[in-house]
Amino acid sequence: MDYLKITGGTKLEGDVVITGAKNAALPLLASTILASNDVKISNLPNVVDIKTLLKLIGMLGGKYDHNINEITLNTTELNKTEATYDIVKTMRASILVLGPLLARFGHCEVSLPGGCAIGQRPVDLHLKALEHMGAVIEIKNGYIAATAPDGLKGATIVFDKITVTGTENIVMAAALAKGNTTIINAAKEPEVVQLCEVLRDAGVSIKGIGTNTLEIVGNDRKLLEFKPFSIIPDRIEAGTYLCAGAITNQVLKVTNVIPKHLEAMLIKFEDMGFKILREENAVTIFPADKIKPINITTTEYPGFPTDMQAQFMALCTMAEGVSIIDEKLFENRFMHVSELLRMGSDISLNGTVATVIGTPNKLFGTDVMATDLRASSALVLAALVAEGETTVHRIYHLDRGYDRLEEKLTNLGAKITRGKE
Ligand code: EPZ
Repeated sequence: MDYLKITGGTKLEGDVVITGAKNAALPLLASTILASNDVKISNLPNVVDIKTLLKLIGMLGGKYDHNINEITLNTTELNKTEATYDIVKTMRASILVLGPLLARFGHCEVSLPGGCAIGQRPVDLHLKALEHMGAVIEIKNGYIAATAPDGLKGATIVFDKITVTGTENIVMAAALAKGNTTIINAAKEPEVVQLCEVLRDAGVSIKGIGTNTLEIVGNDRKLLEFKPFSIIPDRIEAGTYLCAGAITNQVLKVTNVIPKHLEAMLIKFEDMGFKILREENAVTIFPADKIKPINITTTEYPGFPTDMQAQFMALCTMAEGVSIIDEKLFENRFMHVSELLRMGSDISLNGTVATVIGTPNKLFGTDVMATDLRASSALVLAALVAEGETTVHRIYHLDRGYDRLEEKLTNLGAKITRGKE
């Protein structure tokens, strides 16, 4: 397994070009199962999760020509409808093939995604919604066996909780259903919005894009003619690099971003005393005279994203004062705390609330272990300001969602190298 060795204390400066959003690319790749033509996609992030989903699409019979950040896919000859455990266990977002496969073929078998480090992460809301659309769902031997022999029917779906991939699955299923589907309490993350826009551009009538209520007119299993599209920039990658500038209290600019998608984080940086310059496709963070503590509660978009919680916790260790972080979305998304404690931070947990007593310039380098994608980026951020050398083990977690992280940080002046255990 790979590790990253980071020497803390180096000054960062410069610009970072942000790549396409993993969490937009995953549902969009799955949506090509609904396509009648070659689908051309650009600005695809070069990360492991994308490779995993492409492997699954290949196993189902899809064909593609993939050149790092560009791809052309054709799924017209898809001849399998089973997403096997070996693939799904490595990437739970494989569940995103459930809606399109069922809508197109009237049946599919998708391994139940296990839980993961950050929580049990059930898919009950996805399944209940598909049943509302006429699917018969059976769980056997760890698989979801879904059938809808006469195709899915439009329905009114109310999600008890806002679910990002749940909304995406139902949007894709509804696109090929017979009749109209209304989704109430839908997610409206930018990644969900782009999926809706791409399907709308492929001829699907979708109203309410960007709101919590979506109205989709199904076209009764007629495949869609996709137009070429470019994946939106990754707001979480952008936020992670802005945190790198903040934690080292240096000037840092992220380019190829949509500032509006980052607003909840930008306001938090400003509350902490950093200055933020918003330009059309770029954001620059400037040092704070004094890094102030903040309170964070994670919530759905456009609120503060749970995927930035770990990174901001690392930043809060540099604040002069006490920060309170309440993780409302996942029941176990504090796996990074024990590792940050090993580096000398002062963090205590009480249920979903973490209290971070700032220990500016008191972190020290040591061996730490990555446990999940965003926790691992938080450990890298802490290592940038820890005294001495930190080794972050099991960084396969990091490779799932960050494109060339050590290269980008090295270009900013960080001392970071990759090694093999
Ligand atoms: C998406 O996961 C993202 N992944 C996650 O990013 C992100 O943290 C999460 O949304 C929240 O923003 C992708 O888009 C591929 P949810 P998802 O369904 O869709 C509960 C990363 O780091 N729930 O919105 O799986 C669930 O347990 C990843 O890139 C049910 O109870 O999250 C959670 O508490 C990590 N039943 C809450 O809803 C369901 O059927 C939100 O989950 C579905 C969800």
